[in-house]
Amino acid sequence: MKILLIGKNGQVGHELQRTLLPLGELVVLGRDALDLSDSAALNQVLESQAADVIVNASAYTAVDRAEADEAGAMAVNAAAVSAMAAYARSHDALLVHYSTDYVFDGDKQAPYIEDDATAPQSAYGRSKRAGEEAILASACKALVFRTSWVFSVHGGNFIKTMLRLAGERDSLNVVADQFGAPTSAELIADVTALAIAAYRRGALADGIYHLTAAGETSWHGLASYAIERAQARGLALKVAAAQIKPIPTEAYPLPARRPRNSRLDTSKLSSALDLQMPAWQVYVDRLIDQLS
Ligand SMILES: NC(=O)c1ccc[n+]([C@@H]2O[C@H](COP(=O)([O-])OP(=O)(O)OC[C@H]3O[C@@H](n4cnc5c(N)ncnc54)[C@H](OP(=O)(O)O)[C@@H]3O)[C@@H](O)[C@H]2O)c1
Repeated sequence: MKILLIGKNGQVGHELQRTLLPLGELVVLGRDALDLSDSAALNQVLESQAADVIVNASAYTAVDRAEADEAGAMAVNAAAVSAMAAYARSHDALLVHYSTDYVFDGDKQAPYIEDDATAPQSAYGRSKRAGEEAILASACKALVFRTSWVFSVHGGNFIKTMLRLAGERDSLNVVADQFGAPTSAELIADVTALAIAAYRRGALADGIYHLTAAGETSWHGLASYAIERAQARGLALKVAAAQIKPIPTEAYPLPARRPRNSRLDTSKLSSALDLQMPAWQVYVDRLIDQLS
């Protein structure tokens, strides 16, 4: 089996470079080798690589920048994904792709299931939903994993930003009325490999699956937990967890609207693969260990 990993340098892509290795011949590409806004280059790569499985870990993930550059987000998150889906459909390849809690409006009072109605509230969310729709419309073989609040030791993310700010500033204000499951790129990459293996032996069906760690918290809860753990590990920080001030979304205005409820119900994937998703704290502890 030949696997083409597109987006090798992102948080998830970096971890996939390790977890996909045992599945077959792995070819990995970053933006330097393939700019996804160049559709001719993308088609040429797809044709020349002739992979059995295409794993797309790349995305336009600058949520706020996308508000002023929706065309740029659409090019990477929808048009390029549509081309991958068309290739997969015509060559009987499997497309593995990632999407987001931002396809929902965040108004539901319970965790979202895969069949809940989508209603993206931001340019990024619309572009990611357009990518999902392109895959569904193509009727290609596909596994689409919606995840949330991704972090990793590689690349920029909320936890690393909070640790940096807690080392520089005397106080921190963090939004406390948005809820989700912080999810490690390690978990996403591990489960992706398990899912591809299961799909290949006919034990997993095509479709959209929610893939996050277990549990939930707010951004304030996540920052507090990470800072408390980092201090316990001896990192020199000026702000203690108890000093982080919880603030409402309205007190921290950003260009893109965020869902209040980002919680995703993972039972469909957990039961299909017979998995027990670990708690988000397990991976935050791992991250702090790696950073300290
Ligand atoms: N991050 C989150 O909190 C989050 C939450 C929910 C869902 N997701 C989804 O999960 C998936 C993985 O996210 P992630 O956090 O790993 O993303 P990431 O760290 O931002 O990585 C995205 C990768 O895509 C590449 N890329 C962007 N535009 C490109 C272009 N025009 N041509 C080629 N490559 C391009 C980037 O290249 P450069 O390194 O050169 O910029 C980067 O390596 C994405 O589908 C994302 O939408 C993420």
